[in-house]
Amino acid sequence: IVLVLDFGGQYNQLIARRIREAGVYSEMIPFNTPLKEILARQPKGIVFSGGPASVYSPGAPRIDRALYESGIPILGICYGMQLMAHDLGGRVEAAAGREYGKTELEVTTDDILFTGLPRTMQCWMSHGDYISAPPPGFQVTARSAYTPVAAMSDPGRRLYGVQFHPEVKHTPLGQEMLRRFLFQVCGCRGDWSVSSFIEEQVAAIRERVGDGRVLCALSGGVDSSVAAALVHRAVGDRLTCVFVNHGLLRQGEAEQVQKTFGQALQVNLVYVDASERFLTKLAGVTDPEEKRKIIGHEFIRVFEEEARKLGKVDFLVQGTLYPDVIESGTATAAVIKSHHNVGGLPEDMELELIEPLRLLFKDEVRRVGEELGLPEEIVWRQPFPGPGLAIRILGEVTPEKLGILRQADAIVTEEIRRAGLYREIWQSFAVLPSMKSVGVMGDERTYAYPIVVRAVTSDDAMTADWARLPYDLLERISSRIVNEVRHVNRVVYDITSKPPATIEWE
Ligand code: XMP
Repeated sequence: IVLVLDFGGQYNQLIARRIREAGVYSEMIPFNTPLKEILARQPKGIVFSGGPASVYSPGAPRIDRALYESGIPILGICYGMQLMAHDLGGRVEAAAGREYGKTELEVTTDDILFTGLPRTMQCWMSHGDYISAPPPGFQVTARSAYTPVAAMSDPGRRLYGVQFHPEVKHTPLGQEMLRRFLFQVCGCRGDWSVSSFIEEQVAAIRERVGDGRVLCALSGGVDSSVAAALVHRAVGDRLTCVFVNHGLLRQGEAEQVQKTFGQALQVNLVYVDASERFLTKLAGVTDPEEKRKIIGHEFIRVFEEEARKLGKVDFLVQGTLYPDVIESGTATAAVIKSHHNVGGLPEDMELELIEPLRLLFKDEVRRVGEELGLPEEIVWRQPFPGPGLAIRILGEVTPEKLGILRQADAIVTEEIRRAGLYREIWQSFAVLPSMKSVGVMGDERTYAYPIVVRAVTSDDAMTADWARLPYDLLERISSRIVNEVRHVNRVVYDITSKPPATIEWE
């Protein structure tokens, strides 16, 4: 393992991921993790990440200096390098201005990080302070126009530093430098992969669970599905998945999940059709927040009832991902999480959490899912909100409206897939407003619902842009919906980004 100490920089999450891409297992941990804990993990190398602080600012993050004496190779990036320079007797100064953006890097000495690479190359800089003199024992290995010490090293102590960011794409050879650090300095083998991740997790879960029993709330989404499949591989029959159909799922979704988990993977699956219960509770309710609350409460109630029927359960599986972990604390993330992760389970259930995916990004989770043999329909499914179609029907949810929306939504999905855009679009779906407009069909006047088509591109759902779908694709979606879905006579396309709109309509 190679540990990344997190000093709060905006690219930090990428570092651990780039290291894993090089075939070396990596985790990011807080900078103030006690030295004893760091050493106990026996890392083959440590990376100090970047961070917004200056080494001179009060309360700047620091580390236990004994770490430098541990003999473990260290690579400091940006703030990480400045901290190293500061701690070991070099000089760090505030620059007149911030150096930000693509910069030409000039390699000045033969150094292991740069062997075989060109003498000049592009790198990405983003810093206010700079190192004006390296610590004793260090040599300067690269510079740029404004940064006299753009890289430095003390090969004897196996300490390395770079002022630029090797982990971002704007440093095209950055991954090569990381590989040199990992393989030549740290002596890593580079044989970690998705399949070894699965093996390690399976072994760890097995050991932790022992004879215990495990419960998982399966939503049919990528994260909970992959987490369930992974835990199932580890403990087999001691895992029970509960899949609550709240009647607000998309067309074919309940069948798909049952087929995959119950039949193909032979997971103990408790399928609860609670649709009537939810629809009864939702009858007459039009306020979006009220709808969400009802669904959230009812979900927990159903889940809890089913869990109690199973007798004593010791563990609960959650499909928490790395972005959930970092975003937790922000207001929106907290709200989303509380539903997504079945928050609010009664305390007397005393369940221990198993979160096997908490260090991974969505695309890594998808690779794990593929490796575990989950079908493409599940692994590549676009995100779907916990409250389901209830927040895509504006106003009151009724069985009639659910029927209309399901059919329209299936057409949108089918056409987006057929156009080969399903994976690159973050989410694409239909929304049913509670209003009617006049149209003409055949020789008849119609007075019927419109369907709103929503398709967005996004990296993380925090911001999103409306997708520039080709006109002929929009045309096909529109004419199919109007022709095939009864009670719909008009289709409109939502061309608002987030912000100011949100992805969902409620
Ligand atoms: P908004 O509409 O806020 O949505 O732009 C951002 C992302 O979150 C999803 N979403 C939810 N996911 N439970 C969930 O699990 C929820 O209650 C929920 N509400 C919104 C939404 O689909 C989008 O991907």
